[in-house]
Order: sequence, then C-alpha cells, then structure tokens
Amino acid sequence: MKRIAVFASGTGTNFEAIARAIEEGRLAAKIALVVVDQPQAAIIEKAQKRAIETFVFRARDYADKAAYEREILTRCQAAGVEWIVLAGYMRILSDLLLEAYPNKIINIHPSLLPAFKGKDAIGQAIAYGVKVMGVSIHYVNRDLDGGRIIAQQAFAVQEGWTHEEIEQQVHAIEHELYPNTLKMILEKESRGQEE
Ligand code: GRF
Repeated sequence: MKRIAVFASGTGTNFEAIARAIEEGRLAAKIALVVVDQPQAAIIEKAQKRAIETFVFRARDYADKAAYEREILTRCQAAGVEWIVLAGYMRILSDLLLEAYPNKIINIHPSLLPAFKGKDAIGQAIAYGVKVMGVSIHYVNRDLDGGRIIAQQAFAVQEGWTHEEIEQQVHAIEHELYPNTLKMILEKESRGQEE
C-alpha cells in the first residue's frame, strides 16, 4: 500500500474525496500524514475524525522556510511517506522537499494549465471571460503551477453561471479527478512504469 501525505491550507474537500475513495476501496493507498499550515483550517478536523496523523504548523513560528520544511520532511520520512499530494496548500515548496521527493509531488489546480497559474485561477478565468474552464493535475517543480501535466478535465461554462456555480463545477470535477488520477499514478508505479 502506497503511503501518501496530503498538504492543505483550507477546507480540505479534496482531501476528503481522496480519503473517501480509500475508505470505499476505490483507491489503494494510505494517507499516512496530513500537513497543514493554518491552525484554523477546516481540514484539521476532517483528518482527526479519521485518526490520521496531522502536522499543523505556523510559518511564523519558524526562522525561515528551510526550518519548517526540514520539520515537514522529517515528519514525512518518519511516517514513511512516498508521495506528496498538494490539495489547496498555499505555499511554494523549496528545493528541500522537491529534491527529497523528485517526481513524487503532485498538485491540483483549478484551471486548464498553462492558463491562469497562481492564486484565484477561477477569478482570473472569469475576468477573462473564458467559455471553457477546467482542472489540471500536474507534477510540482520549481515553476509555480508549471510542472508536467498528468491529467486535465474541461467543462463548458454555461451562460449566466455565477462565480459560485462555476466553483461548484470545479470542485465536482476535482473530487473525481484527483482520486482517479492518484489511482492511475500509483498503479503505474506499482507496475514499474513512469507516468
Ligand atoms: C481546490 O480548488 C484546488 O484546485 C486548489 O485549492 C482548492 C482546495 O480546496 N488548489 P479544498 O481545500 O480541497 O476544498
């Protein structure tokens, strides 16, 4: 069973979708650790309810990014983490984690990359007036939202949809796509194939 860590900063609906896929036997993996950088984040309760080990930190309690990333890395290694799954983790990873987990860190982003990188991708896309939007899952490298794309799913924006309705559509897609893509990656790895 592959051991994964989920990193998040907020609500954790993607974490929940992955956890549910595991609980329902649709995804063979174990969430060995949840890493959260916001002590008030709703994901914490969702992880603790499932008795998943959770490391909550505040960046400002550490001297610098290297200091908190060293602690994250130590905790990942102690938990036997093989893959890092970013799910709304609002921090840029440094080389410390990238080099410790080469090609083993993935992220989900609410746009059809390479369009609308960075924060508020949905707002950016709405402001641009795009008629086809979507979700991307990609490897994480040094370029923000710039790593190789693993999976994408598009949808047509219906006339008159509000920001909230678009967000709901994005989430509905994410909650299917993330567990399914993880399943594909982990199965390929087990067969000895690179994605
Ligand atoms: C998702 O929309 C994801 O694409 C983005 O952050 C959001 C996280 O939502 N990177 P949640 O915390 O999983 O509900």
